[in-house]
Amino acid sequence: MNKLEKARNYVKENKDKINKKYRMTYHVMAPVGWINDPNGFSYYKGEYHLFYQYHPYSSEWGPMHWGHVKSKDLIKWEDLPVAIAPDMPYDADGCFSGSAIEHDEKLYLIYTGHIDKTKKPEDIRQIQNIAVSEDGINFTKIKENPVIGTDTLPQEAKSQDFRDPKVWKKGDLFYVVVGSRNVDGSGQILMYKSKDLINWEFVNIIAKSSNKIGKMWECPDFFEIDGKDVLIISPQYLESKGDRFNNIYSSIYMIGSLNYEKGIFVHEDYYEIDHGFDFYAPQTLIDDKGRRIMIAWMNVWDRKWPTHELKHGWNGAMTLPRVIQLKGNKITFSPVEEIKKYRNNEYRAVETITNISKRLPFDGFALEIEALIDITHADRAGFKLCKGDKEETILYFNKRENKVTLDRNNSGIGPGRVRKTTPNVIENKIKFRIFVDRSSIEVFINDGEQTMTALIYPSDESNYYEIFADGTAQFLITKWDIKL
Ligand code: FRU
Repeated sequence: MNKLEKARNYVKENKDKINKKYRMTYHVMAPVGWINDPNGFSYYKGEYHLFYQYHPYSSEWGPMHWGHVKSKDLIKWEDLPVAIAPDMPYDADGCFSGSAIEHDEKLYLIYTGHIDKTKKPEDIRQIQNIAVSEDGINFTKIKENPVIGTDTLPQEAKSQDFRDPKVWKKGDLFYVVVGSRNVDGSGQILMYKSKDLINWEFVNIIAKSSNKIGKMWECPDFFEIDGKDVLIISPQYLESKGDRFNNIYSSIYMIGSLNYEKGIFVHEDYYEIDHGFDFYAPQTLIDDKGRRIMIAWMNVWDRKWPTHELKHGWNGAMTLPRVIQLKGNKITFSPVEEIKKYRNNEYRAVETITNISKRLPFDGFALEIEALIDITHADRAGFKLCKGDKEETILYFNKRENKVTLDRNNSGIGPGRVRKTTPNVIENKIKFRIFVDRSSIEVFINDGEQTMTALIYPSDESNYYEIFADGTAQFLITKWDIKL
């Protein structure tokens, strides 16, 4: 049996054997096994397609395949057969991250072949390949592979770290940006161009860390929005600065302008995309409505992964798809509006509380809470989420610090710690949109000016919710269950 068939069969035979305790209900997950980065996020023949870095055989990273789901509305996803497996000499040790684009009615995947024949780090090679599909389900790797080899690299780029091509089209040409490591050890982004997606020509190194913005730059994404160009990258080991960049690897964006002929990206400062714990390697698409939508791996490297440690047979999920909008010189991130179709069981209340914690009359693990909190007369106010007798995940605004804190020290099993971010509070009001999905929390602050994403692992009993205030705070609350 070939590797692709073997993986497809393994999924079929093992998907019902996993432990579902911490499984989410409205986020993308693999049926069984390990997932990391989103790949090939695209809109093809009226449907959204999403692929993901996939090791079906265990709840840990291993030789990468591409898993695959599709959806009509970005919320309800259908599992499809594994799309590609590491079965060629040019991708023998993994089909690493990449992207997708429609061309001549076919769906093209461009991905990194990882080759690690001798298991000596210096011998690793990463090269770019293409697989094509006419039905959006079955993919054929083309005979011209690799389409971008290490022979195309500029002298200062290492052959060991050259991965994660993101493709787009401008005018008559296709372009890719690819993550690369400079000989100085830090990250940079290379750009190539092509007329046909098969023959590629190196343009330039469009941006560089020069050891100032972390080490290796993984998973670049590039797009145009309202006349500006945006580069997204996921740098490893970006040094933390106060509340920012506190995870081992970060995801950041830079707004600027790309000179396509010279291959130079002139940009302003860089900003962290998500201020929580579990967000990495985001990828974007543009859909038929002209929306720029981003999805990310809702996880991060080098952490403890409870569903792996507990041998639940799976690990990893994607964030909710988030719409990107340019507001001044920053980007906002809001959940796609399709999520509203799945709101059920509405509960609304206005609560004014003084120096207490008050339990709300609902519970559950798959819900959305929208809240406008007036903190004119409070020092601190917020929510205790997924609360039980001993467990809680606390989200609050502290007026003295002018910070929102997400505290998962007492959330259940799994890693703890807090994350903070400084919101833009107008007239003493702060707005939260909170999505809970069994083992995840996503918070959108003030219409997506900031987001905070966290994995949590509360026990089954920790399923109720409280509001609390130091001083007097008023809460306008709406809650919906999210049911697919
Ligand atoms: C990012 C990453 C990519 C690579 C893939 C391998 O999380 O390290 O750079 O292509 O994961 O699974």
